[in-house]
Amino acid sequence: MSVLIKGGRVITAADDYVGDVYVEGERISLIGESLDVEADRVVDASGKYVLPGCVDPHTHLDMPFGGTVTIDDVESGQRSAAFGGTTSHVDFVIQPQGSTFADALDEWKSKADGKQLIDMGYHMAVTDLREGGSLEELASLPDQGVTSYKLFMAYKGALMVDDETLFRTMQVAAETGALVMVHAENGDAIDVLVKEALARGETEPKYHALTRPPETEGEATNRAIQLARVAGSALYVVHVSCAEAVEPIAIAREKGWNVWGETCTQYFFVDYTFLERPNFEGAKFVYTPPPRDKANQDVLWNAVRTDVLSAISTDHCAFDWDGQKTLGRDDFSKIPNGGPGLENRLHMIHEFGVRSGRLTLNRMVELLATNPAKLFGLYPRKGTIAVGSDADIVVFDPDKQHTISASTHHSKVDYNLYEGTEVTGLPDIVLLRGNVLVEGDQLVASPGVGQFVKRARFGEELKPAAAVV
Ligand code: URP
Ligand code: ZN
Ligand code: ZN
Repeated sequence: MSVLIKGGRVITAADDYVGDVYVEGERISLIGESLDVEADRVVDASGKYVLPGCVDPHTHLDMPFGGTVTIDDVESGQRSAAFGGTTSHVDFVIQPQGSTFADALDEWKSKADGKQLIDMGYHMAVTDLREGGSLEELASLPDQGVTSYKLFMAYKGALMVDDETLFRTMQVAAETGALVMVHAENGDAIDVLVKEALARGETEPKYHALTRPPETEGEATNRAIQLARVAGSALYVVHVSCAEAVEPIAIAREKGWNVWGETCTQYFFVDYTFLERPNFEGAKFVYTPPPRDKANQDVLWNAVRTDVLSAISTDHCAFDWDGQKTLGRDDFSKIPNGGPGLENRLHMIHEFGVRSGRLTLNRMVELLATNPAKLFGLYPRKGTIAVGSDADIVVFDPDKQHTISASTHHSKVDYNLYEGTEVTGLPDIVLLRGNVLVEGDQLVASPGVGQFVKRARFGEELKPAAAVV
């Protein structure tokens, strides 16, 4: 199958030109002006942007958490990703305490089997190095294409690890070339604050934020940075939400340390006051770190513009409001933590980043596709438009209008964080390795088209399949 995408405005992290992109099989084979080639399918992209498929480095599909399981499994989560122009993502395997990493990885792979609509990789969330996986086993994961280790510094009594586990994992990463990711919050201090709040009878959703002050995120971010320096590992701080966490990352990067950070779409748009919405509506916005005071939103826009933060993810971790969030109706600490958003990242960042003049189109592509691909060992197969790269392409109509709503989105979840937001600019056609996934409002491909990708180690390139010897 060959596809010729004609006359679109091709935008990568570095380029912006009008041209033709020719796809043969799964890869881009030719780029040029007015290409004179035969193709099984010709797409007229004049007036449209031709973007690399977006890469979401932080999602949670089919994940047990908070006494329930996320509402989106691999199929429904990836369907919503595809409609939003995301063609690959990296999900988290969570090591059950007492379990080996191999068992955990097998379990996650079996959940994805036959359901995949887009390409995916896995991070390994390390929860237990004492009775479960060993350091040797952890060290073997990069050979299997799992080249990032995640540690939760919060969620005491559930996923949280102590500093010894964090530090030992960093030491392994320094040896194996894996990237260490941290959920940076001081879980011990937060646990005290939560218990004190509940003892005072403070049970409403807003106390989720009031018991997780930004200083607890700043402290843990700084601790992780300093420990990574001692261990000599690269560090990536996930879901940065506030100035207190941006500041130590900015200092580290200015000093040239091997430290990177992301924020997520929701932190630009949802602030603390959303948690105060009446009738338990606030529970929709209970995710961690929590929505912060609005002043942090400008801090985050500046941070992504200036490369203090290098990626925007979704941290899609969707729970229905009715039946799942309501588990915490009488106790905010029982509300499953997480929010949806896998479908709306490109919509929202194009509208409020690019169209509002905060980001260039190139920087948007860099934040949503190129940098996540580079940091997580998918580049240059993913995250760019270049000869030899996978033909993961979004033909994006910058003039198409859309109102974001739970009534039209493709996730299973029963609400949308951005309900009623009007955006101009939508994916028209989405290709995954040359296969049409989405066309207009139709899902064209069937589950099974997506693949597990063995990712390269941090700082290494993932060669196009045909170039691997
Ligand atoms: O609230 C969140 N973010 N849930 C998902 C797990 C995590 O902390 O990333
Ligand atoms: Zn987290
Ligand atoms: Zn997460």
